[in-house]
Amino acid sequence: SLKVAIIGGGSSYTPEIIEGMINRYDSFPVTEIVLVDIEAGKEKLEIIGNLAKRMIEKAGKPIHLSWTLDRKKALTNADFVSTQIRVGGLKAREKDERIPLSHGFIGQETNGAGGIFKAFRTIPVLMDIAKDIQELCPNAWMINFTNPAGIVTEALMKHSAHKKVIGVCNIPYNMRHSVAEILNAEPNDVKIEFVGMNHFVFGQKVTVKGIDRTEEVLEKLRDSLDYSPANIVSLGWSKTFIESMKLLPNPYHEYYFHTKEVLAKDIKAYEEHGTRAEVVQKLEDSLFELYKDPELRDKPKELEKRGGAFYSDVACSLMDSIYNNKEDIQTVNTLNNGAIPDLPADAVIEVNSVITKDGPKPIAVGKLPSAVKGIILQMKNFEELVVQAATSGNYQDAYLAFVANPLLADEKQSKVILDEMLIAHQQYLPQF
Ligand code: G6P
Ligand code: MN
Repeated sequence: SLKVAIIGGGSSYTPEIIEGMINRYDSFPVTEIVLVDIEAGKEKLEIIGNLAKRMIEKAGKPIHLSWTLDRKKALTNADFVSTQIRVGGLKAREKDERIPLSHGFIGQETNGAGGIFKAFRTIPVLMDIAKDIQELCPNAWMINFTNPAGIVTEALMKHSAHKKVIGVCNIPYNMRHSVAEILNAEPNDVKIEFVGMNHFVFGQKVTVKGIDRTEEVLEKLRDSLDYSPANIVSLGWSKTFIESMKLLPNPYHEYYFHTKEVLAKDIKAYEEHGTRAEVVQKLEDSLFELYKDPELRDKPKELEKRGGAFYSDVACSLMDSIYNNKEDIQTVNTLNNGAIPDLPADAVIEVNSVITKDGPKPIAVGKLPSAVKGIILQMKNFEELVVQAATSGNYQDAYLAFVANPLLADEKQSKVILDEMLIAHQQYLPQF
C-alpha cells in the first residue's frame, strides 16, 4: 500500500496534486489519498473531495480517496504527507499585505513584514503536525509547500523531532521551464545550477544536455524576459544589472532590487483592486463555483491564474523519486550541510539535490558568488532570526528579525509595523 495524506486538502490548489498523482500512477501507484482540513475549511474540503473523486474515477485508477477533519486518523500509516496550509486563511494574508503597505513598505505574503508574520503563524502549527507525524507515521516524508517554505522548513529541521522534511516551491520549476522556452529546448534537458534560498534563489549556470548556454540566457534576459508567476509584477531587468551580475534573478528579487518601483505599482494595484489576497479570494470563489459542477472531472484551466500553478509536478516528481530511489536531480529546500560553505551547515537552502529513497542529497554549490554574497548572508541571518522569534515568542527577537530585513530595516517604523501586526494577528500567535 502507498498512502498520501494532504494536510490543507481543502485548498483550491488540490486538484493539481491529484492530477499529478493520477498522471504518475504507473510509477507511483498510490493506493490511498486522504485529504485533511480544519473545521473552518469543511465546506471547501467536501467540494474538493468530490471533485478529486470524479477526477480519479474518470482516469480509471484504483485509488481510494477520502476526506476528514481528523488529522491523526489521516496520518496513521501515511507514507507521504504534503502540507499546504494557510494559518488564518486569506483574511490573515490580506493583513500581511495591507498593513506594511499602509506604512509605505512592501506588503507581500512571503517577503518583508508579511513573510515574517506568515512564518510566526505557521511555524507553531507545522511543529504540531510534525509531532503527529513523528508519532503516527515516523517513516513518512513531509513535503511542505506552506510558505514561507524555506524558513518553515528550517524551523522544522532545527526544532522538530521529525527530520524527514523537504520544502518545495514552483519558482525553480518555473525558471527552468521559462529558460527552456526561450532556448527552444525540452524542459527536462535544461539544468540550472541554483544558489540561495527559497524565493531568494539565483540561477548561476544553465546547461542544456550538458552544454553551457548561460550566456545566451543572460542575453535574452537583458531583453526583458518575463517569467513571473501570476502574483508578481514584472518590471524586467536592466541590461547593466544582468551583464554585471551574470546571474538569473528570480521574480521575487524584484522586491529587493526594484523596491521603489514595485512599491509604487503595488500601491496603485491596491487602490484599484485591493491586495493580492482579495484578488485571490475572488479567484478562489469562482474556482470553487467551477469545482462544484458535477460534470467537472478535470483540473480547470482557470487554476493557472494562481501563482502556485504547476506545483503538483514538483510535489509528485519528488514523491515518485523518493519512492523509486530514482537518484535524479531536483531543486528542493533541504539542509545545507556544506553545499554552500559560506552558510551554516544547519541552514536550509534551495539547492539541486540527488533524490534518493533516503531523501535529498544536496549537490555542492561552492562559495557564494561575490555579487550577491552580502545580501544572501544577510537574508539567511534574517531567516535565522525569524525562526528564533517564531519559536521563542520573544518580542525583542521579533524586532531583530524586522530590523535585519532589508525591506524593513528602519528601526522606528519596524516597531510601529511589528506592534500593529502583533495585535492584528493575535489569535494566531499563541507563542507571543
Ligand atoms: C508563487 C510562489 C508560491 C506562492 C504563489 C502565490 O508561485 O512560489 O510560493 O504561494 O506564488 O500565488 P497566489 O496566486 O496565491 O498569489
Ligand atoms: Mn514558492
